Amino acid sequence: MTRIVDPTETDSMQAEDPALRPRNLDEYIGQKAVVDNLKVYIQAAKKRGDAMDHVLLAGPPGLGKTSLAHIIAEELGVDIRPTSGPILERGGDLAAILNSLQPREVLFIDEIHRMNRAVEEVLYSAMEDFRIDVMLGQGPGAQSVSLPLPPFTLIGATTRAGLLTRPLRDRFQIQFAMEFYQPQELSVIITKSAERLGVVLTPEASLELAQRSRGTPRVANRMLRRARDFAQVEGDGTITLELTKFALERLGIDQVGLDATDRKILHTIADKFDGGPVGLNNLSTALGEEADTISEKYEPFLIMKGFVQRTQQGRVITARGREHINYVGGQGKLF
Ligand SMILES: Nc1ncnc2c1ncn2[C@@H]1O[C@H](COP(=O)(O)OP(=O)(O)OP(=O)(O)O)[C@@H](O)[C@H]1O
Ligand SMILES: [Mg+2]
Repeated sequence: MTRIVDPTETDSMQAEDPALRPRNLDEYIGQKAVVDNLKVYIQAAKKRGDAMDHVLLAGPPGLGKTSLAHIIAEELGVDIRPTSGPILERGGDLAAILNSLQPREVLFIDEIHRMNRAVEEVLYSAMEDFRIDVMLGQGPGAQSVSLPLPPFTLIGATTRAGLLTRPLRDRFQIQFAMEFYQPQELSVIITKSAERLGVVLTPEASLELAQRSRGTPRVANRMLRRARDFAQVEGDGTITLELTKFALERLGIDQVGLDATDRKILHTIADKFDGGPVGLNNLSTALGEEADTISEKYEPFLIMKGFVQRTQQGRVITARGREHINYVGGQGKLF
């Protein structure tokens, strides 16, 4: 079963998601600092008739990186070529794509931290000088030829900016760190989504969902759909505050949006490791979850909430984190 609060994409949600995806900067809620700056860069590039500078979008899953990449291309009035780090296996794969770009187009590389070295090296000269070096022939007679490329904009997205090599990161002239959304912003997003889905959502219910969506639009939209299910089966189709609370309780999501797995992480650090510090690998073994999954999907929000801290020695539960699990678990009062 997929976690309702899992911010990563799943097959089941992809079918419905395009309808909820913002299509231009005006529909893109929140991330104000990012959006305001982008507007300037987009306008400037259009005025000059140049390709916009390369952009790196970093941040936890589900915060709108892919949506924003598409919107940037849309606002620039150019096509976008989407690909991803793991798909590009050889330098030649990337060279072929680069070679087929039209001037000023956007190349979008998702999960750019998962690109291998050979591919990354092709990208260096492509980003810097709009050229690629190709080897002709083999052995001692082999020759390196430098081929010109059309000017293009690379947009890279990553959930793990820390894993990017220095030379790659330095070649992005524009770098944005996406932030978790405020409940008010999520409430606006959910309200728009409800309109698009043709479902009635009360303002109180919208705010409740927003507060429990771990700052993540993807989670908010997913919860909205589950709430709609409950409203249709248990109610008259309108998503009321009462129905929302009922649905969230059934799904095991607490007041701040943590689910059973999140709480298990807190309990494990607190009980099995005396509050920490505990290394990621030990935590991963104790939980039976992949280390990457813990650090990419679960931790960012627990850290943002101030429940967990990452120290040099490992993960530590904070006083706030303890308070939270005691409240939801200890006294037997979950909601
Ligand atoms: N700023 C926003 N305004 C409105 N809706 C948004 C916004 N950001 C994201 N969404 C909604 O959340 C969904 C997920 O966003 P998106 O796929 O762009 O996230 P992502 O950061 O690329 O995630 P991942 O790291 O998993 O690839 C979108 O389809 C859209 O419905
Ligand atoms: Mg994405």
